Amino acid sequence: MSQAKVSKRNLLLRQTLVELLGRATADIAALRHEINHALNVVEWLDRLQPDATDALAVAALLHDCERWFPQQRIRRADFTDYLEYKRRHSQQSALLASEILQTVGRVDLQQAVARLIQGHEFGGDPETNLLRDCDSLSFFSWNLSDYVEERGEAAARQKIAFMYDRMSPEAQAKVRSMSLVSKHLPLLAEFLRQR
Ligand SMILES: [Fe+2]
Ligand SMILES: [Fe+2]
Repeated sequence: MSQAKVSKRNLLLRQTLVELLGRATADIAALRHEINHALNVVEWLDRLQPDATDALAVAALLHDCERWFPQQRIRRADFTDYLEYKRRHSQQSALLASEILQTVGRVDLQQAVARLIQGHEFGGDPETNLLRDCDSLSFFSWNLSDYVEERGEAAARQKIAFMYDRMSPEAQAKVRSMSLVSKHLPLLAEFLRQR
């Protein structure tokens, strides 16, 4: 990708992030996790597909954005079906992403970003699969330790299985080769031994 395109992409991502932060109602300490995860998914996308479309880059940044609004947040406890919870979380994030894109003047991206975010938990077409892989790679490389600490080992085991089994074989291979697995994440190492 040309330097001009990279600069334009970075400007778009900065504007989008500033708009999301301006709207977010969670306090800044609670947002730490969401901000880091969103940026980390963008980072994985940069690594795996540096020439990704603007829509995919914005979708990477906004894919979980409903979680930045605790009052309206879609809550796991309200659903008996985990996949239904994931669907509602994806729909709500897609809706908010459309509003943000309207404000930053990129209505041309609304439809594509909404489609990508709606599919980010499950995949579908190649672009959505890549977003899903980047989301899972971020979880394994960055979020897992926090997750175990916050939710406990039983919930973490289920989450590991969901995040791993949905990935492409190529992305699964990346998780297996992560050097931190055996040292810092014994739960993940145990899971991988059984796969
Ligand atoms: Fe998500
Ligand atoms: Fe995510």
